[in-house]
Amino acid sequence: MYGNISVTDAPKAGEQYIEDPVKLAEFEAKIERGEKIEPTDWMPREYRRQLIRMIEQHAHSEIIGALPEGTWITRAPGFKRKMALMAKVQDEIGHGQLLYSAAETLGKSREEMLNDLLSGKSKYSNVFNYPAETWADTAVIAWLIDAAAIINQVTNAKGSYAPYSRALERICTEESFHLKYGYDNVVTLATGTPKQREMVQAALNRWWKPIMHFFGPPDKASQHTATLMKWKVKMASNDDMRQQFFESYVPKIWELGLTVPDPNLRKNDDGVWEYSDPDWDEFKRVINGDGPCNKERLSVRKWVEESGAWVRNALLKPDARYVTPLS
Ligand SMILES: [Fe+2]
Ligand SMILES: [Fe+2]
Repeated sequence: MYGNISVTDAPKAGEQYIEDPVKLAEFEAKIERGEKIEPTDWMPREYRRQLIRMIEQHAHSEIIGALPEGTWITRAPGFKRKMALMAKVQDEIGHGQLLYSAAETLGKSREEMLNDLLSGKSKYSNVFNYPAETWADTAVIAWLIDAAAIINQVTNAKGSYAPYSRALERICTEESFHLKYGYDNVVTLATGTPKQREMVQAALNRWWKPIMHFFGPPDKASQHTATLMKWKVKMASNDDMRQQFFESYVPKIWELGLTVPDPNLRKNDDGVWEYSDPDWDEFKRVINGDGPCNKERLSVRKWVEESGAWVRNALLKPDARYVTPLS
């Protein structure tokens, strides 16, 4: 809670948070000068709310994102690949830990965040509601989903909230290892037997739409986005990040002799990539719980929460009070 209102409650329709104009001006000047905001600094309620929403969703995406790849640990082809995948999945859970801590500095407890994940109140990245059907899917996820995540996270690391930036810097270093690991797996399959090539192409076909969805729908210029950009909460538009992804990775996909399942994908003379709109209705359906794996993902998390409850209870000291971490 923050004052009398929950830190995550949006103002009611037609209402706006009224902030102290002097404090707001100082806050905005600080960001304008390129300085970072620390947890103990004054911040507008909408800034706090948006950051909690964003960092919390990111944390959930890390721990739920570990699930589709995690199911392949026992089936990885060979010991070396099993070790590498295990290390990657462990990293992703670690990213979740770092991000929950960063979100907690804003006043929402980890328990509340996990409860909101399980109740469906807070979301995670849609992309993790799709199944990893073959080993090649894990290769495509580790290369291209992690690549998309890096674009997003490198951009957000330049944002104004210090604990989130610090967490992202470390996360990005580890993500770049994941990307190399994924690329190595894709190259192995793409330069392997005809069957392996077929597998990796089929996986790319399956994952292309979720990857396009990953960056979110095209931005409409709205007052909302403009304020978040001014406060350095949102650092780039969805379209800019999608274009960056095309620019960096489509040539590499083509270089491997793979086909992107979008006949309209091309780079125009002005340097802008043209692409087919990926079914945004499906995107909305999956966000609202109707994707191929939504129920499975949440039921695994629920099972983990329930079966680990005795450990958390055993560690609880009766007189321990919840303390918000500072960073
Ligand atoms: Fe991660
Ligand atoms: Fe990763």
